[in-house]
Amino acid sequence: MSASYLAEGGVPLEDWNPNLYLRFEKERTQPVKDLISRIEKAEPARIIDIGCGPGNSTRELKNKWPQAYIVGLDSSPNMLKKARKVSTEIEWIEADGGADLSVLGKFDIVFSNAAIQWIPDHEGLLRKLFFMLNKGGVLAVQIPHVGNMGINKALQAVVTSNKWNRYFKLNTVELVFESPQVYYDILSRLTSVIYLWETHYYHVMENHQSIIDWYESTGMKPYLDRLPDAKLRFEFSGDILKLVEHEYEVQQDGHVLFPFRRIFFTAYNE
Ligand SMILES: C[S@@+](CC[C@H](N)C(=O)[O-])C[C@H]1O[C@@H](n2cnc3c(N)ncnc32)[C@H](O)[C@@H]1O
Repeated sequence: MSASYLAEGGVPLEDWNPNLYLRFEKERTQPVKDLISRIEKAEPARIIDIGCGPGNSTRELKNKWPQAYIVGLDSSPNMLKKARKVSTEIEWIEADGGADLSVLGKFDIVFSNAAIQWIPDHEGLLRKLFFMLNKGGVLAVQIPHVGNMGINKALQAVVTSNKWNRYFKLNTVELVFESPQVYYDILSRLTSVIYLWETHYYHVMENHQSIIDWYESTGMKPYLDRLPDAKLRFEFSGDILKLVEHEYEVQQDGHVLFPFRRIFFTAYNE
């Protein structure tokens, strides 16, 4: 498989950069710990982590259930290269999480942290993931809820501005996320044992630029990938930074709080 992959419409996107992603590893892994703490499954034998990234989420699963057979699955060769360094006891698989994965067998926990927002058709996807569960198994998912976030508003304002919109006219990869009510309706067609919640984190950032650094490796990535050179990418990020400075106030000690809402759910196969 090549080091880049194709977005809808055939525009090549850069592969993920695990080192940029892991600059905020502690903050990004906290929701993993929070989601794991809500999984009620005594001794799972088989676990899969969909969109495992550099393996930070898979490592937490292994720490919690060291006896289990664990698969980390991701579509990014770069992320998997980094993930393979986490453990040789975990099976790492390069595949599209939105594809038919039934060949991998059934699992006691199907886990996904901060990944399915990159995969379209959540109704179809969640059905597929749920049907990968053994009886008594649990689907456990966390999705960033970026809709009303200042960084997303700033990004969208710049992307749609006259100065920049010509670069993004052909296609863009939009983040996919639904409301908790929509997820409930999807899940309630599969099971009656469902827990849904939202956590509003307040990440303490060094300054406004740190918010840009955070988002460059995730939500801004599909747009940065479409800009032809480094100078333009720098200018694009700079324009977003100017708006971000108005979205988030500076605290008395100079830090900036970065509020971040995340939707979580667990659904049990009764
Ligand atoms: C934000 S990272 C999450 C990493 C990790 N799970 C965590 O908790 O921090 C999202 C990951 O989803 C992966 N991803 C995106 N689309 C995917 C797809 N269609 N199939 C599998 N993985 C995908 C990306 O390659 C990336 O590694």
